[in-house]
Amino acid sequence: MRTLRVAMLGCGTVGSEVARYMKRHADDLTARIGAPVEMAGIAVRRAGPPRPGVPGHLVTTDADALVRRGDIDVVIEVIGGTDPARGLIMTAFAHGASVVSANKALIAAEGGALHAAAAAHGVDLYYEAAVAGAVPLLRPLRESLAGDRVHRVLGIVNGTTNFILDRMHSFGADYSQALKEATSLGYAEADPTADVEGYDAAAKAAILAGFAFGTRVRVDEVHREGITAITAADVDDAKAAGCVIKLVAVCERSADGSFVNARVHPAMIPSDHPLAAVRGACNAVLVEADAAGQLMFYGPGAGGAPTASAVLGDLVAVCRNKLAGVTGPGDTAYNRPAVSPMTDVVGRYHLSLDTADQPSALAEVATVLGRHGVSVATLTRRPREGGFSLAVSTHRATDAALSAALCALRTLDHVRRVRSIPRLGET
Ligand code: HSE
Repeated sequence: MRTLRVAMLGCGTVGSEVARYMKRHADDLTARIGAPVEMAGIAVRRAGPPRPGVPGHLVTTDADALVRRGDIDVVIEVIGGTDPARGLIMTAFAHGASVVSANKALIAAEGGALHAAAAAHGVDLYYEAAVAGAVPLLRPLRESLAGDRVHRVLGIVNGTTNFILDRMHSFGADYSQALKEATSLGYAEADPTADVEGYDAAAKAAILAGFAFGTRVRVDEVHREGITAITAADVDDAKAAGCVIKLVAVCERSADGSFVNARVHPAMIPSDHPLAAVRGACNAVLVEADAAGQLMFYGPGAGGAPTASAVLGDLVAVCRNKLAGVTGPGDTAYNRPAVSPMTDVVGRYHLSLDTADQPSALAEVATVLGRHGVSVATLTRRPREGGFSLAVSTHRATDAALSAALCALRTLDHVRRVRSIPRLGET
């Protein structure tokens, strides 16, 4: 029985757990693959002090030499970022290695080119760990739901921001303190801007839209808003409206399949909605398909061990393919629908406004909204800081109509502050 050799690029939060579980689960991995699998080398940026559980003789700072060895069957890429990951993966393909990656930014940006290179060299590229940590999502979309037609994917795909918003909602925690905690627990990216500004979730949304609709959505086509503007006052407003604020990713396909849309933004979610119950760094994704109806995928979406679980699942799959002399499913993009702009998206919204203590303020707000085609479903008024705080829930309107209404509201003399957050989960 031949031994399959694995090279790993990166040995941080995820890589060290991959090494640990490869050792701990060695017998099961051998049985499931049908051959032993051994770690042949681990490339790190700086040698540094010994890493617990990582044999020192395997560690090298020469990643390029490692992927060029020629006796490597599978390269696990857990360094993240576009460079040097892209070049190393291309070199690995050229030397006959399949690749397992957790790199959402790279796959979202370069998935097409990487899949083409893998196919040209007759090897696999798998990346279940790139979206939603331990939660199986890409394989179910690509394989289990291959006979169905998915029309919507809606979920929480960033653990760090969910952790922060959950801490703010449940414990009144301060934003920066919650971010520090998420970073120390190994949930946040090397630069947490990627998490809190929504870049990480946008990359995942682009990948999800591709798998769900058999197409390619570029990451710059994903509308993106992060959570940095969410304040304790917004969280309180959400509570008062019986909602929680979550950062959501939404991918939708039009009924005739000619348009798709992908977006990431904070949303008000009614507290009885399944996504409202997603706590800490967990992720949850609802998939709606013609025949299956609504499916929910839920579990730990960030952190070393959960992400390692997804990496090792892919490792087993690509090792089995190697032994069988085959490759698994490749690029999923066979459709070319147009990507519709955010301005066309129709939704309901929660508006919170601070107004001066003027009897005419309320009427002016309602008039401006009406003039822009945004109709009011409910409106509550509470005294706040010498004026009033208005909480407005709207009926369905396009994003373009809402944006125009917000601009007009901001010009009103009696309006001091306007915030708007989409509402999800209601018709
Ligand atoms: N920083 C990411 C998150 C890690 O918080 O979800 C998992 O992709």
